[in-house]
Amino acid sequence: MAANSETQVRKRMRRNGRQGTGNGRYAHIVGWGIEVPERVLSNDEIERMVETSDEWIRDRTGIAERRIADERDTTATLGLRAARKALTQANLSPRDLDLIIVATSSPTHLFPATANTIQDKLGASRAGAFDLLAACTGFIYAVSLAAAHIEAGMANAVLVIGTETLSRILDWQDRSTCILFGDGAGAFVLCASETPGGVRASVLHSDGSGGDHLYARSGVRTSWNGPPTEQSLVMNGQEVFRFASRVMAQATEEVLEQAGLAIDDVDVIIPHQANIRIIQAAARGLKLPMDRFFVNIERYGNTSTASIPIAVVEAVEQGQLKSNDRLVLVGFGAGLTWGAMLIEWDVVPSARSYLQDALRESWYILAHVRSMVRRLLRVLEAIFWKQPRDTQHRATRLPDDKEQTD
Ligand code: ACO
Repeated sequence: MAANSETQVRKRMRRNGRQGTGNGRYAHIVGWGIEVPERVLSNDEIERMVETSDEWIRDRTGIAERRIADERDTTATLGLRAARKALTQANLSPRDLDLIIVATSSPTHLFPATANTIQDKLGASRAGAFDLLAACTGFIYAVSLAAAHIEAGMANAVLVIGTETLSRILDWQDRSTCILFGDGAGAFVLCASETPGGVRASVLHSDGSGGDHLYARSGVRTSWNGPPTEQSLVMNGQEVFRFASRVMAQATEEVLEQAGLAIDDVDVIIPHQANIRIIQAAARGLKLPMDRFFVNIERYGNTSTASIPIAVVEAVEQGQLKSNDRLVLVGFGAGLTWGAMLIEWDVVPSARSYLQDALRESWYILAHVRSMVRRLLRVLEAIFWKQPRDTQHRATRLPDDKEQTD
């Protein structure tokens, strides 16, 4: 008997993924928002930068244009604006948040985390905040973690953001990579509920042995006195293509097995938007027509962690994702990482309250004032503690941390 139950525990441990805790707490997605830069960079413009053609890019990738952040924006400001929209949609105050998770592959700083900057600007004074790095699979990892926190009773409201300024880590002379990527951000708010539904199951995978097929250096030198390192994105396109074409269908099947469902039980599949041919390979692998997949790669290219939330929000806006639909999110990325998630999109839009909207806007102004006061207090503290001048830290704002949020 004891041996049997041990075998069962081992079997369960070997099984990848999670499927709720069964304790009556469910993580529902109650708010969503996106932010895409206004500047459109077309294939025609890229044609003037490297030896390529609109026809080649469309044929091989499905991409026609992508968005590029202007110099007033950062990964944090794009993420912040997406987060504000998600909070408005959820009709929640930043004070209600217990946790903020930012998935990004292009943070402006190694530290502090982009999540900390966004937490401060939102005035989410009760929330813990951290960044998560799983490249383009990051959003799926982050939503999975948020749901697990909620189901375990560690949080009631979690903000998850995927945000990127990949244009700043691309080598714009490298035609094999610069055609693929774009900038943007998307955010979800997840809340605890006793009603079954929301994030039902997820599977997360990693194979670090493939790490050298897609990477960007952090800027950390290889030795203490070594030369500065290049940060550009480096990719073995064919290798990543082969891997992605294999795992997208596999991960989808795996998460369905985890949830005890069949592919026909799913209404919409929203895949990471990296290459239309990878999505077509997934459709072939799952023996599904392409119209079961939501695709918007043509207008945004690959926005890494932002690609899935941007696609989800557009699918909702275009009526392709409706209340009570079953939705699979599936993605892959550097690491190598891959994963999938099954969501019951049983969202009842919360009633819009103009009073709440006004209060939230006032809260953002207060958050700004609060942040300035805290900075000032630190300066005063340093003066009154009479630290020697050369040990005082004079920076009052992060370099490159732009103030623009609207
Ligand atoms: N324009 C014109 N020709 C090009 C271009 C370009 N932009 N890029 C490459 N070529 C050429 C190559 O030099 C090659 O020429 P050759 O035959 O004379 O040597 C030819 O086109 C074919 O090159 P391939 O690399 O075989 O082209 P492929 O069909 O594989 O497409 C691509 C390349 C689009 C990069 C594809 O491999 C791909 O999409 N891979 C997956 C990449 C991906 O999804 N990365 C994101 C991961 S998510 C994350 O974590 C960031």
